[in-house]
Amino acid sequence: MTTFAHVVGWGKYVPQRVLTNDELSRMVDTSDEWIHTRTGIRERRLVEDGETTASMSIQAARQALEIARLSPARLDLIIVATATPDHAFPATACLVQDALGATRAAAFDLAAGCSGFVYGLSIAAHLLIAGAYQTALVIGAETLSRITDWTDRGTCVLFGDGAGAVILQAGENEGGVLASVLGADGSGGDLLRLPAGGSKTPASHRSVAEGQHFIEMKGREVFRFAVRTMPAATREVLAKAGLSLTDLDLLVPHQANRRIIESAVRSLDLPPEAVYSNLEQYGNTSAASIPIALCEAAADGRIEPGDLVVTVGFGAGLTWGAAAIRWTRPLPKPLPRWRRFLRRLRYVVARLRSRLRRLRRRLVAFWTRDVLGNGREKSK
Ligand code: COA
Repeated sequence: MTTFAHVVGWGKYVPQRVLTNDELSRMVDTSDEWIHTRTGIRERRLVEDGETTASMSIQAARQALEIARLSPARLDLIIVATATPDHAFPATACLVQDALGATRAAAFDLAAGCSGFVYGLSIAAHLLIAGAYQTALVIGAETLSRITDWTDRGTCVLFGDGAGAVILQAGENEGGVLASVLGADGSGGDLLRLPAGGSKTPASHRSVAEGQHFIEMKGREVFRFAVRTMPAATREVLAKAGLSLTDLDLLVPHQANRRIIESAVRSLDLPPEAVYSNLEQYGNTSAASIPIALCEAAADGRIEPGDLVVTVGFGAGLTWGAAAIRWTRPLPKPLPRWRRFLRRLRYVVARLRSRLRRLRRRLVAFWTRDVLGNGREKSK
């Protein structure tokens, strides 16, 4: 019997704070006209104090679970695609697992730049199709504002913060993620990178003074790579699914630059209505851009059951990826208030459970201190 990996839930979170091009033009030597003409961006969202990649991921995941009508306990796997995790470790996916109370789920982060969400979707779909898992949560989330040099007009006008999530579930009916293609070319790693903070150049006074903890990009070369890769990956994934461009209902590309998207559309000879873009409001949110766009396209009625959707991304690595999805789930009616209340209660219980587990760990450490001895005694 063949198994398929269906998209059964989707959710997004974008911070409240809006930063417009006009505000940016008071911070660096730029203008709304330059930014909009060269990129298509008008504004982006930025996190407030206390918001992080994990906190945004949790909000997006909760929405996706609500649309899927699933309890977090049903999740077998959580993947968070991000270049801006809360910490190098623990994985942001583990913070999400704990906050949701997804007690049965394995959890890990995935680093594939702006292609991260498509990579995560592909991995999760293959695990479901292979029968390893039933239900997976795939999140793309970024807090790029915290690694942006707000004095560099070449990069600070491009990026924004946000999170998007989808839930995949194994099923016997045909549909869901029909095919995916992933690629990488590490020879272009220097075109888009965060120079310091890893094992090669750990954080130091010098790395901070030299501004090495900010995004560094060779924009023109990334642009050239993107316009070549997006149409090629789109064609390849459709061919792999045994379909063609005439079967395509909606292309949901990575939202990096309007000129890149328009070039891909021209090269694929698609009508403008066959492409979704929300770049104007959010800028480039890296791994979050495709799942946020998927959510908004579904909410706008641009994706309906039976539609063939292709998502295609490119980014740091260099990496690229595309997925062909046969949408099978209608947008459900909003939950009644009492059921939404019960759902919120579930997350309060998850928080309580997490605290109890920490307390139990401390108590066990206290009770077993004589058995294990302490560090000082051991080293004598
Ligand atoms: N405002 C005003 N002028 C700016 C500017 C800004 N924000 N940023 C750059 N400029 C200036 C440059 O200094 C340069 O001036 P000069 O001709 O006097 O030297 C001029 O504009 C052209 O710069 P250039 O970098 O060649 O512009 P561009 O047309 O390539 O556009 C990008 C720059 C970044 C918008 C474009 O290259 C791009 O989008 N690249 C892809 C980036 C991307 O998608 N990255 C994420 C991948 S996931």
